[in-house]
Parts: sequence; C-alpha cells; structure tokens
Amino acid sequence: MQHTDIKVLFKDGAEYIGKQVTVCGWVRTWRDSKSIAFIELNDGTALKNLQLVIEKDKVSDSEVKPALVVGAALKVIGKFIPSERNGYEMSVQSIEVFGGCPADYPLQKKHHTLEFLRTIPHLRPRTRFFEAVFAVRNALAFAIHKYFNGNGYKYVHTPIITGSDCEGAGEMFRVTTHGWKGQYKTEQEYYADDFFGAKAGLTVSGQLEGECAAMGLGKIYTFGPTFRAEHSNTTRHAAEFWQIEPEVCFCDLHDIIEIAEDFIKFIIKDVMEACPEELAFFEERVEKGLLEKLKSVVESDFGKITYTEAVEVLKKSGKEFKYPVEWGSDLQTEHERYLTEEYFKKPVFVTDYPASIKAFYMKQNKDGKTVAATDLLVPGIGEIIGCSEREADLEKLKSAMAIRNMPLESYTEYLDTRKYGSVPHSGFGLGFERMIMYVTGVQNIRDTLLYPRTVGGL
Ligand code: 4AD
Ligand code: MG
Repeated sequence: MQHTDIKVLFKDGAEYIGKQVTVCGWVRTWRDSKSIAFIELNDGTALKNLQLVIEKDKVSDSEVKPALVVGAALKVIGKFIPSERNGYEMSVQSIEVFGGCPADYPLQKKHHTLEFLRTIPHLRPRTRFFEAVFAVRNALAFAIHKYFNGNGYKYVHTPIITGSDCEGAGEMFRVTTHGWKGQYKTEQEYYADDFFGAKAGLTVSGQLEGECAAMGLGKIYTFGPTFRAEHSNTTRHAAEFWQIEPEVCFCDLHDIIEIAEDFIKFIIKDVMEACPEELAFFEERVEKGLLEKLKSVVESDFGKITYTEAVEVLKKSGKEFKYPVEWGSDLQTEHERYLTEEYFKKPVFVTDYPASIKAFYMKQNKDGKTVAATDLLVPGIGEIIGCSEREADLEKLKSAMAIRNMPLESYTEYLDTRKYGSVPHSGFGLGFERMIMYVTGVQNIRDTLLYPRTVGGL
C-alpha cells in the first residue's frame, strides 16, 4: 500500500514540503470546531504524532465525521506543510477509514497507569510509553548483534528444549506430552515413555551448549529466550526472559570482565544515538537524570570489589538490612543495591564468590573456597550480568558436580569438552529485560516485555 512512514516525513521533512503524501495510522486524539478539525495521527514508526489539519470546506463531512474517533485506523492523503508549533503538519485532502473504533476502546484517555495497561497487553503497543519501550528494546537488540558481529563472534542458536539444567537451581519448566499414569512404577519408566524418551524441560540458559559451540568456533554468543519457574514475584523476575550469553575461549575472568564492560558501554552508547527521542521521553516521564546517568556509565570505569571485601563493606555500613550479611551467604537485592547505589554509585563487578552459593561450572580458585565468578550490579536494579571463568579441569568439574548430587550421565557431552582439548574459557549472561530497565528507567520487568510471563499470570 503506497504511503510514507511518519518517521520519514519528520526526518526528511524538507524534501516533502508542498508535496502530496499519503499516511496511514491510528487516531490518538482529535479536536473539532465549526470550520476546522485536527487529528493527531500515529503510525508506530515515530514517537511523535503527525498533526492533520482538516479545513471543512475542503473535505466532505461524510469523510471527516467517522475519522474523528480515538483509535480509528485511517489512510489520509494531503499536502505536507511547515508548521510553527509542530515543525510539520498535513493539510488534509481526503480520508479513508480502514477500521472504526467503538466507544468501549480502552485507550480513550491520554494517560493510563502502567498497572491498567498491563491488563491489556494486546493494546498497549498503541501508547507512547510502549512505543518508546519497544523502540529501545529493538535498538538494544540491534546494538548487541552489532557489537558481537563487529568483534568476530558467531551467533549460535542453542536449543530451547533441553535435558540438562544449567544453573542447577531446580527452576526448569517441564516439557512433556503426557501425564503420569498409574502403570509407571518409577520416574525413569515415566520419562522413558515420554516424547523424547527422557526428562526434558525449557532451557534456563544456553550456556552449556554455547560452551560446546565455542570449543570449536572460538567465540560465540547466544541471544534467545530462557525460562525459569522461579516463584519470585518481584519487579525484576520474569518466567520467560531473553538472555545474551557470549562464550569465549582462551579467556580468563579478568579478560571476560573487560569484555563485559566494553560491551555494556557500547550498547548504551549505540542506543543513545539510535533513540534520542525515546530516552528524552523516559527522562521526562520515568527517571530524572537518566541521560546523565547513561552518559556517565559510558564515560567512567566500573567499580570492582571481591565478595569477601563486599561483605566487610556491608557489615561496616551501619545499615539495618532485612537479611543478615555473613560470609558464605548469598547477597540479597538490598545488599547489591547498597553496594552499587550508595557505596560505588555506579556499576560494580563483585568477584570471587563462595563456591557453595554458585553454579557447578565455575572455575575453582586456589583458596579452595571461592570461584572465579562475577556479578555485575547496577544502580536501581542489582544484578544484570552473571559471569564466570569456567572450570576447565575435568576432575575438578566432576567433583563439583558430585558435591551437588548432579547426575553425571546427563552431562556426558558437556564433560567431553573437558576431556578433548580443554581450554581456559569464560562467559557471561546478560538479562535483556533488566538491561532495558536500566537504559529506560522502567521500574517493572513486566513493562519491558510484549506479553510478560510471570508466576501466577499468563
Ligand atoms: O546469573 P544467571 O542465572 O546466569 C546464568 O544463567 C549463566 N548461565 C550465564 C552465563 O554465564 N552464560 O542469569 C544471568 C542473568 C542475570 O544476571 C539476570 O540479569 C538475568 O539473567 N535473569 C533474569 N532476568 C529476568 N527474570 C529472571 N527470572 C531472571 N533470572 C536471571
Ligand atoms: Mg546470577
């Protein structure tokens, strides 16, 4: 259908001045008076609406009336003209209504609460807020691919259905085609009779398969959906979220931390260039100081502290935490946020966590207590990256699995990577939605996903 995107009209406006153009879109608002009417039209390509000016002696009433309806979908032909207030606008010559919109359309008002909009996920892309969110989401995804492509990584697609639980936290969704029937005597028998002849679930992370790919391709990244049946009903947890997981051979913890910092700075910078209007919108509507924050993240070095030092800092903070801080226990969100928001006031890598609170695959440090792992914490959110050097020694890896009572027979392929030409290698996982939250200031992960999947709600 011949028409011009509103974004293009605003961008290359001078070229279109005085010309006849066709635009398509939805009516966001309208005003009417005796001789003139105005429509704010949005087609989803630009955050800004195009103002349509309808002089009633030029367009018939039968065309104008059905178009003065919030939510109606229109095709409009008119002359593109300069405007003192809006930069550009359109002087309308004819209107065709694609689809009318009855009065029960839920987006009648200009402003709606985010809570209300969560009840209509199918309609919220028609609001400015979600247009801005999805523009940033798109730009971030593009920036991520640009970074890895420009640095020689191969994009691999790891399976979504898998038999191995990477994080080992028992948070896998089961994949099955049948229910438990009385005739099964054991769990094994039950799984053997299922579609894959084995226990299967939705992946919590593409890392293990990513490691196998990196062992031949050198450096890879995944970027796909991951699933966790966590019962954490928080503003930062989703049951279905996207993860970016690079895996790099011949790379130790120190090297991967440098890569992670360079990567985060690159994608923020890229989004700042790609989405200035959207970020200005979030600065105004969601987080004062957002642009300054992003600029300073790009320009300054991230903090670095060991877990052991962080525990000391927290103990000396004089803060009343809900969860006590002891060496050996996991850092809670309140601890993470104190470190990054109050102590460092910038993103910080916490390194060398106790082995007992981290996953089996992390490289064991010489002290026998900690692992070569790091979490990147950022103000406002807490953890956005989980990262580690991987244990490359077959025997050490097996013993870490044995301590955790993991079934070695389910991981024979993974263990082969340590048997055949093992190398030092490292990787990390960035939570895509948490990154969107950080870049936009959006407070709830449910507002970064088209259809958020969280515990208790589809
Ligand atoms: O720290 P996690 O569990 O690490 C891994 O899965 C590793 N296999 C990554 C790797 O080394 N390749 O998860 C990585 C990140 C977290 O830092 C967080 O940003 C995000 O994924 N994440 C979630 N985001 C939204 N909802 C959830 N339920 C999340 N769980 C983790
Ligand atoms: Mg983690």
